[in-house]
Amino acid sequence: MPTDTLPNPEKSPERSSGELIRLEQVTKRFGDNTVLDHLDFSVDAGKHVTLIGPSGSGKTTILRLLMTLLKPDEGTITVDGQKLFPATEKERREARKQIGMVFQQFNLFPNMSVLRNITEAPVTVLGMSKDEAVERAEGLLDMVGLADKCDARPAQLSGGQQQRVAIARALAMRPKVLLLDEVTSALDPELVAGVLDLLRDIARTTDITMLCVTHEMNFARDISDQVLMFDSGRVIEAGPPEKIFSEPEHDRTREFLSAVL
Ligand SMILES: Nc1ncnc2c1ncn2[C@@H]1O[C@H](COP(=O)(O)OP(=O)(O)O)[C@@H](O)[C@H]1O
Ligand SMILES: [Mg+2]
Repeated sequence: MPTDTLPNPEKSPERSSGELIRLEQVTKRFGDNTVLDHLDFSVDAGKHVTLIGPSGSGKTTILRLLMTLLKPDEGTITVDGQKLFPATEKERREARKQIGMVFQQFNLFPNMSVLRNITEAPVTVLGMSKDEAVERAEGLLDMVGLADKCDARPAQLSGGQQQRVAIARALAMRPKVLLLDEVTSALDPELVAGVLDLLRDIARTTDITMLCVTHEMNFARDISDQVLMFDSGRVIEAGPPEKIFSEPEHDRTREFLSAVL
């Protein structure tokens, strides 16, 4: 894998230690449904953390808060010491640049070529020159095995290919944090393994911090430094994957795992 297109460790030596993501006392309500209730939660730089737990427990809500697609009702969120909430628009925009996200439904721009999907944000958000953005995008497309699809439209690609483009698009911003929300759930079964292998490669060969929601327990076991079991907006159990998957302490964790494994 060409590492020159990936987040550059030399640019951010501080990333190897300390908290990169921090949520303090975060509360999120939808109407009278309190989804997150004074949640404290942090992810250390360079770590791969997986959130597991039943549907509706608030996993996506956490990722959407970090993407600033939602606002918390209370609490503070920081990324690499930069304020995300509460923050001025300018502070939020800066903090937000540290984060990339890949969604279950790919969410590519349908009217743009594959290449343009990847170059758009580096040019418009980071102010990168078009030439540099294209060079980076081509390197990333090579890495995800789609060098020949630059000019294709998303609709001309398989789900697995679209998700590879979405991963390349997120990495093009050189985020410190990559958020992955059930990124293989919408794929045909035969396409899942390829995307998971790509993510394993990224986890192994980069220092990017990953916060991942997945039902792929073998994948979670492989890449995670820590697994957090979520239930009703709370972390009810946390630990290394060997511990959570083999000797869970909570009945809820055991029940959940026996339903999904
Ligand atoms: N935009 C929204 N409007 C209203 N309720 C929502 C919205 N998004 C999520 N919820 C509710 O918040 C809860 C947590 O949802 P979510 O974070 O998507 O859970 P998970 O990802 O763990 O399945 C659910 O009860 C869901 O119905
Ligand atoms: Mg979800």
